[in-house]
Amino acid sequence: MSQTAEIKADGQSYELPMMEGSEQEKAIDIGKFRAQSGIITIDPGFKNTGSTTSAITFLDGEKGILRYRGYPIEQLAEKSSFLEVAYLLIYGDLPSKDEHDKFTNQVTRRSLVHEDIKNILTGFPSNAHPMGVLSSLVSSLTAFYPQSLDPHRGTDMVNLSILRLIAKLPTIAAWTYKNKIGQSLNFPVNELDYVSNFLHMMFSVPTEEYSVNPVVAQALDKLLILHADHEQNCSTSTVRLVGSSQASLYSSIASGICALWGPLHGGANQAVIEMLERIKDDGGDTKKWMDKAKDKDDPFRLMGFGHRVYKNFDPRARIIKKAADDVLADLGVNDPVLDIAKGLEEVALSDEYFVERKLYPNVDFYSGIIYRALGIPVEFFTVMFALGRLPGWIAQWKEMTENNEPIGRPRQIYTGATERDYTDLSSR
Ligand code: SDX
Repeated sequence: MSQTAEIKADGQSYELPMMEGSEQEKAIDIGKFRAQSGIITIDPGFKNTGSTTSAITFLDGEKGILRYRGYPIEQLAEKSSFLEVAYLLIYGDLPSKDEHDKFTNQVTRRSLVHEDIKNILTGFPSNAHPMGVLSSLVSSLTAFYPQSLDPHRGTDMVNLSILRLIAKLPTIAAWTYKNKIGQSLNFPVNELDYVSNFLHMMFSVPTEEYSVNPVVAQALDKLLILHADHEQNCSTSTVRLVGSSQASLYSSIASGICALWGPLHGGANQAVIEMLERIKDDGGDTKKWMDKAKDKDDPFRLMGFGHRVYKNFDPRARIIKKAADDVLADLGVNDPVLDIAKGLEEVALSDEYFVERKLYPNVDFYSGIIYRALGIPVEFFTVMFALGRLPGWIAQWKEMTENNEPIGRPRQIYTGATERDYTDLSSR
């Protein structure tokens, strides 16, 4: 496509190249616009600005489409496994049987962490939020694996660093939980699959045999798949920006964990449950809370609703909502906040404020209900999001590194004081 775009500014006309992606998305390349015109573009929140090209995830917000490397999320959630999806995202294709078995075996055999990590872990007070602990411990991996610091140290070392992180994050996450509740740490068990091993490390206690419930393991595997990547969201953009300075994989991922923590992003799954509990404790008056969400003067927002890109149903929310029904039924759990959530969704989908703004339930609206039914504490929900998003972050960092993308350094428009002279303190 050799199309160009014409921009007229300050009485001048400028011709800029356009580009088109494999799904017919179009962009104006403004890379040379400032050099030609002295003018920059500005777009707070990057609502209409692309930061890169990527071959990893495609989503169409208007149509509610989400695909990893071309595979529809619905098929992967139904038929694949989280480790297989991790391989797909990172290496670009579904693994052969041999590749799958080798990858799984390598991950299984790297799940132990250095014993000295316990010294860092026990240094945290029990009221520390697990996301702060998780990002600190991931960053600490740079100390235990200094050869991971150089992102250009060669494919073998990059792949080893990737394997270590995928293998150790569940251990680090489970140890973060056990340390917080004051229970002894569990070591990984190589005979268990990835998700079962995590559940074992989270919930096994020395006093009784813990057996993994297959319904729980299957639900969790599906949730991790649904969270695995989502193109240039806030935390992924953070990983790419930090990595663009040639900081290491581990420091880039630790930064992504911090970005995900925010309640407008991954922290929303915790905020949703806290909101639903608040509504339940307040008598379950969904209309009162919907009115608050619509009131410009009220800071309350309907957490788990709305999305920067999806202006249709978040396809992940559809799958998670059904999974929530199935898991709670299988486990015989009756959670009143699920009914409140469904009531809010029903009202919102016919309310002019939400319809006009195309606000639909997003991935975070129902996920917390499942995590809670699985016995995962609410402060840990965003850790679960991070566990799921890890392969996406890794794939995006790897793509950025392999493409030798330039260091990210946005411009600005200055609006502060113009030049003025210093005055002595005595004269002020
Ligand atoms: C994730 O980007 C990703 O892909 C993220 C993610 C991923 O997989 O990585 O999908 C995961 O982060 C999902 C989003 C989780 N966050 C929440 O659920 C928090 C609640 N939602 C909102 O704060 C909001 O919808 C955002 C942050 C998700 C999106 O915000 P935008 O795109 O900046 O939109 P906006 O804040 O400008 O809202 C547009 C309008 C505003 O009203 P007006 O000023 O036009 O009158 O919609 C209103 C907003 O006030 N609005 C809401 C609302 N969300 C937007 N009003 C009430 N409740 C809400 N939840």
